[in-house]
Amino acid sequence: MSPHTLGIFSVGDTDISSKKVLLRLDLNSPIDPKSKRISDDSRIRAHAESVKLLLDQGAAVAILAHQGRPGDSDFTTLEEHGERLSKYVGQRIEYIGDIIGPHAIRTISLLKPGEAVLLENVRFLAEEMIEAPPEDQGSRIYVRKLSKLFNLYVNDAFGASHRSQPSIVGFPVVMRGAAGPLMIRELTEISRAFSEENRPRVFVLGGAKIPDTVRIIKNIASRKAADKILLTGLVSLVYHMALGTDLGPDNKSFLVSKGYDKLLEEVRVTTKLGVEIVLPKDYRVLRGDVVENTCISSLNMGGRALDIGEETIEEFSNIIRSAGAVVMRGPAGYIEDMRFRAGTEALLRSALESRARVIIGGGHLGSMIPGDYDRNRILISTGGGALLTLLSGEDLPAIEALKISAKRWW
Ligand code: 3PG
Repeated sequence: MSPHTLGIFSVGDTDISSKKVLLRLDLNSPIDPKSKRISDDSRIRAHAESVKLLLDQGAAVAILAHQGRPGDSDFTTLEEHGERLSKYVGQRIEYIGDIIGPHAIRTISLLKPGEAVLLENVRFLAEEMIEAPPEDQGSRIYVRKLSKLFNLYVNDAFGASHRSQPSIVGFPVVMRGAAGPLMIRELTEISRAFSEENRPRVFVLGGAKIPDTVRIIKNIASRKAADKILLTGLVSLVYHMALGTDLGPDNKSFLVSKGYDKLLEEVRVTTKLGVEIVLPKDYRVLRGDVVENTCISSLNMGGRALDIGEETIEEFSNIIRSAGAVVMRGPAGYIEDMRFRAGTEALLRSALESRARVIIGGGHLGSMIPGDYDRNRILISTGGGALLTLLSGEDLPAIEALKISAKRWW
């Protein structure tokens, strides 16, 4: 898929030497809950090549990125991201701890060709948390302020391309915008791997982003983008709850505390769209200090279900092994705790050992793949939600905004 068939421009379409470039990356990484340090930096490594490329061509680059969401335990500054990015790029990328304050403005105005700085987590700005159409985002105060300082906006944040936030869709409507090298590579490789002949197509969905996952399941099922959807992790519990399973007091109160009980009606709708959704028959449950394999009918005895159980692993592995294409996103359990990694590891192993084309999305799963995997058959994408949005046939807001930019500013 070339940028021109999409109706957008890429950074390779213009001379960037001595130009000031605002570069949106997706450096959002898993953060270890105890040490608060980055536990997997594959997204940072993947972006380092793009940064190098822009610097080698003589651009002066300011990087805009996010980490976590306000209120979540992984919401933090980008200081460590800056250190790691500097290491992988092979030159100092100063983290400036500011986005639109006087320090940021002055630093950006003094940037020289071949130099790069990393601005602070853009989600520290309240305006960034608003989701709205591109034209509205173009008028945000911080977008108006920053856009004046640059000649070009480059979006390389494939992993965040499903968000209609100002840093993704606001800048390209008010200035010249282009897709970065990683964005182009992801779009091209994903569309190649997801071809029609690889059927049956199985989606294996877990992870913690429940409202996003339910919306995406609805799209996948309505457009028949999958032949089967296997659910794991928290999202599978929400589905069980919607179908009337008694999950016991601990699981139920956890799901209610997160507000997921409000999604139950929407969840039920997705089960009636003609695509088979397979739910776990058992889980690994933590009761006090004891971990037990528990079938669904015994969850009402209490305890938190934190991984899929043995029978489920076997059933899901068999389905994965006979698939033509497998898309996996999100862990099957609470993998931060070693006692609840077995389900995710087993399903990944089945996918790696199968003959299917495999697309793996998101940092958590990518970090669990051994380095010697078959690159002709297996694609590890930096996107999680963005990957699924694309595969479910929905438009990516980032690309739609770059299309507006192509018409307006090129
Ligand atoms: C992701 O990890 O999916 C992207 O960085 C987007 O993050 P978000 O889901 O918090 O918007």
